[in-house]
Amino acid sequence: MSNPLEYDWQSFYQLNSDYQTHQKEYESLLSTLDKFYNHSIDIGCGKGRHLSLLSKYSKIIDGYDLVDYDTSVNHFYKGDIRHSFPELSTYDLVFSNGLFHHFEKKTANDLIVRMIDSVQDGTTIIFNLHSKKDSKFRQGLKISKDSYLCESGNESGQIHCFWGKNEIIQSFKNLKIQYLFESGKEGYKCWYVAGVKV
Ligand SMILES: C[S@@+](CC[C@H](N)C(=O)[O-])C[C@H]1O[C@@H](n2cnc3c(N)ncnc32)[C@H](O)[C@@H]1O
Repeated sequence: MSNPLEYDWQSFYQLNSDYQTHQKEYESLLSTLDKFYNHSIDIGCGKGRHLSLLSKYSKIIDGYDLVDYDTSVNHFYKGDIRHSFPELSTYDLVFSNGLFHHFEKKTANDLIVRMIDSVQDGTTIIFNLHSKKDSKFRQGLKISKDSYLCESGNESGQIHCFWGKNEIIQSFKNLKIQYLFESGKEGYKCWYVAGVKV
């Protein structure tokens, strides 16, 4: 019997053809950081929609995802981040869009801490998290603290969890946060985080 808390990511892009790329926010972060990276990884790379942007700032780009969507990354690693965490020690940029807020909050926090702990000092980490100011997905079923199961629409079956600004600052102590801003319309309001492992 399938687990009702497991979303079928294989069909995500068919159901969400209008899914936003958030290029604007990441372009602003990457251009402000003004670095060129040697080796980066996109965790939860999906169809690789951020590859063209990342390639302006990185020589080699790898991808990691639960589903092999056949992207043009240099190396693709397939895995469930909860059970087979990617090896991150060789990267100088770790990027992730739209992944961590799809777990229950405690799991998400643990995974983000693990991501930070897994990289070398000096590695840049860029990711986003849903903002608590966004209420669209709250109409679903509450399953644990700050975590909801969407029960209708295209994202039915997905978990979304939500963060406030201070929680982000306090939860990820080994990340020296350089930029943290909120952006996006209702339903997609996210915190954008960029920092360096210290
Ligand atoms: C909302 S999509 C974002 C995809 C991509 N970053 C983008 O911006 O187009 C979330 C991605 O995370 C992947 N994903 C979901 N759960 C995962 C898990 N447990 N381990 C690894 N990847 C996962 C999905 O397959 C999907 O590609």
